[in-house]
Amino acid sequence: MNAVRRQDGELWMEGVRLADVASRYGTPCYVYSRAAIEAAWRSFDDALAGTDHLVCYAVKANSNLAVLGILARLGSGFDIVSGGELARVQAAGGSAERVIFSGVGKTEAEIGAALAAGIRCFNVESEPELERLDAIAGAMGRRAPVSLRVNPDVDARTHPYISTGLKGNKFGIAHDRALAAYDLAAGLANLEVTGIDCHIGSQILDMAPLEEALERVVELAAAVAARGIPIRHIDLGGGLGIRYREEEEAIDIGRWCRAVVARLAGTGLSLVLEPGRAIVGNAGVLLSRVEYLKLDKSRRFAIVDASMSELIRPALYEAWHGIEPLATLGRPEADYDVVGPVCESSDVLGTDRRLAIAPGDGIAILSAGAYGMAMSSNYNSRPRPCEVMVDGSRAVQVRPRETIAALFAGEATLE
Ligand code: LLP
Repeated sequence: MNAVRRQDGELWMEGVRLADVASRYGTPCYVYSRAAIEAAWRSFDDALAGTDHLVCYAVKANSNLAVLGILARLGSGFDIVSGGELARVQAAGGSAERVIFSGVGKTEAEIGAALAAGIRCFNVESEPELERLDAIAGAMGRRAPVSLRVNPDVDARTHPYISTGLKGNKFGIAHDRALAAYDLAAGLANLEVTGIDCHIGSQILDMAPLEEALERVVELAAAVAARGIPIRHIDLGGGLGIRYREEEEAIDIGRWCRAVVARLAGTGLSLVLEPGRAIVGNAGVLLSRVEYLKLDKSRRFAIVDASMSELIRPALYEAWHGIEPLATLGRPEADYDVVGPVCESSDVLGTDRRLAIAPGDGIAILSAGAYGMAMSSNYNSRPRPCEVMVDGSRAVQVRPRETIAALFAGEATLE
């Protein structure tokens, strides 16, 4: 579902005109569509109806409480990677029994909090983590449910910064050590082995590497079971890409889910998925305003009031986001590099964009619902933008713009 549409020259999200959101709440401002988030989550859940499954939204993609609350109400599970994310899920009304905890560096405090909350499963990424988890669970008088994240050594064919399934990176347990790690886990008194998982990367647009990983992990699950260690669930992580530009084709969610269900038939394994981007990516936009057109250089620059501090994806991954004016105002068209005010040459939101804009005009940076606000920073002492959730004809501010005072509250000067 595309969250925005142009109607009579203006951009709309559900029943709300985005230009109205920009004037009411100011820019830069993230805006999300409740209907688009719900539709994306349901496309997973509906395709898996009839199979024992849990869709665990990857909180890191967008952790605003309103997003988490909407998903909690649908019965979603959550994939977390920190104690902060666990606290957010609980604050949003998500249930701990539907939480799985991923990540290579879980601290003692984070493990303790997750055990106390009673989460569904720890996705363990190393042998030392198994030992730490066992010790903490023992001290708390609990048994920790664990799944081992194995590294299937599959090339996700995505940007190297967001590719995680190959041998040489820090994630998961190497495929050839997996059986030994399962033996270790099964021998630790305070652990209960429940599953196996993998996650090979993000923004994957080709189903082949996902299928390859599925195959390798299913085979490994059978080999683990053959050693007398029963495995109840398989977790295939997230990674399904979305369409950022016209010429891209996203993997059809229903098709992928049906392929997984077909492969798992007869294995007795239940299924967990951890989609992040596929649920929120195309459900959000970043609104901004043109400050200046700088035309005296060899390139034409549109300097806008959003930057790499609010949306770092173009600077970090050379990611492409659509950029469109909020209204069609009859301005002359020209090619621009759309850049922010931050003092870095990499502070670029889009290059060579044909746009009909003038100073003061509102623009939308599209497909910014995932890894936008969640990766924002205060670089250059820029307050974080506000966030708005559109729900039918309502636009509700779900996080106010950060104040300048909040930027350094808690800091101190020396006597
Ligand atoms: N599960 C695990 C263990 C993960 O590491 C991730 C993402 C996900 C699930 C969710 O993946 P998704 O469905 O969203 O692809 N900041 C980058 C993406 C980093 C992804 C990190 N891990 C970006 O903006 O493209």
